[in-house]
Amino acid sequence: MEKSIVVAIDVGTTKICTLIAQIESEENIRILGVGIEPSQGIRKGTVVDIPLAANAIAKSVKKAERTSGLEITNAIVSVAGTHISSINNKATAGVVGGVIDQYDIARVIEGVRAIPIPHNRIIIHLLQRTFSVDGVDGIRSPLGMYGSRLDVEAHIITSSASSVENLRQCIMTAEIDVNQWVLNPLADGEAVLTDIEKQMGVLVCDIGGGTTDLAIYINGDVWHSNILPVGGSHISNDIAQAFHLPLAQAEEVKKIHGHALPDYIGEEEYFYSRTFGREEAAKFSRKELAKIIKMRTEEIFQLVMQEVKRSGYDNLLPAGMVLTGGSSLLPGIDQLASSELKMPVRLAKPENITGMIDQLDSPAYSTSVGLLYWALMMQETVEGQPKKKDMQDTMDKIKKFARYLLP
Ligand SMILES: Nc1ncnc2c1ncn2[C@@H]1O[C@H](COP(=O)(O)OP(=O)(O)OP(=O)(O)O)[C@@H](O)[C@H]1O
Ligand SMILES: [Mg+2]
Repeated sequence: MEKSIVVAIDVGTTKICTLIAQIESEENIRILGVGIEPSQGIRKGTVVDIPLAANAIAKSVKKAERTSGLEITNAIVSVAGTHISSINNKATAGVVGGVIDQYDIARVIEGVRAIPIPHNRIIIHLLQRTFSVDGVDGIRSPLGMYGSRLDVEAHIITSSASSVENLRQCIMTAEIDVNQWVLNPLADGEAVLTDIEKQMGVLVCDIGGGTTDLAIYINGDVWHSNILPVGGSHISNDIAQAFHLPLAQAEEVKKIHGHALPDYIGEEEYFYSRTFGREEAAKFSRKELAKIIKMRTEEIFQLVMQEVKRSGYDNLLPAGMVLTGGSSLLPGIDQLASSELKMPVRLAKPENITGMIDQLDSPAYSTSVGLLYWALMMQETVEGQPKKKDMQDTMDKIKKFARYLLP
């Protein structure tokens, strides 16, 4: 029973979301506890004030504990920020006995993770792609196969060690141990992408408050990922500047009257809001608001496109882009994205969850729910290897097994 309880903490720039859930089957997750708290001390996905962030995280954890009636001790936690970088790497190992065993797999994975990284960075994900045996690729599990040469490619995600340690400090203040770090867009991928999209080639894009999180899936595997330091708070800032509004009011105006496509708004559409230095509310054109929103949103999608081109996989995405995150609630954003990126765009939010789901029925919770799916996949194993191909977490286990096999 205890084994099937999983806990996720999504530390966002706008909100902290703690979820306590029970895994009921391979596809079904029942939410038992939810703790949503406005974020503090986090800027563009990174902790900038430990006491403030720790306090917000602790409050979110306590809320989730109260609603579930469970006390939690550890969690799977999201990580983002501009300190994240990713690289693809390849490795080859000769097969010692003619039949591939755990030791050969461990050696080739050891080889692929041997990239030179500065001492102040750590690997947070080592996502293997399929193996190839004697040049035959697309092999998911090479264990027990005949062959003389084993190749593997991997997507490796590294992070600043200090940024992750600062976040760990905050989580530990809430008396929670971190089971595993998961990069935001990889959690999103588990929550909102279909297997067909991942196979075909798809970009998942989560536009949150302070960051835009990207991951590219091709042939079912992660081929590229990155975090861009732009998000919905930049749109709100632009509105605040242009209309002389306090930031909180600009945020409300965006959510209530905002639209990403000025062409869809009539000249005569107005709204009222109180500016700095005035007692009574002033009248604003909704079309002007949409123009401000469009300008910044276009810029975000241009940055997304640049990143997709930089990956080199821009021609391998027939399933297009799946857009999520709180900022994807902006009306017209999918159409704008589609015309900027020249690809099909689908809006997505978490599905297939049961229990306390009312509060989670929004694209803002894709990362939070995705973390639970990640936890689910890490629990399942296929022939001693995790179903989720994140080898970072299981290297020690494999190494131990390998040592046991050696004379
Ligand atoms: N209806 C809406 N229209 C436009 N924007 C919205 C709407 N609802 C929420 N947003 C924006 O979504 C953003 C918050 O999204 P989300 O909750 O996904 O962010 P986060 O996960 O806390 O941040 P990040 O992932 O960037 O660290 C805010 O900028 C907010 O203004
Ligand atoms: Mg987020």
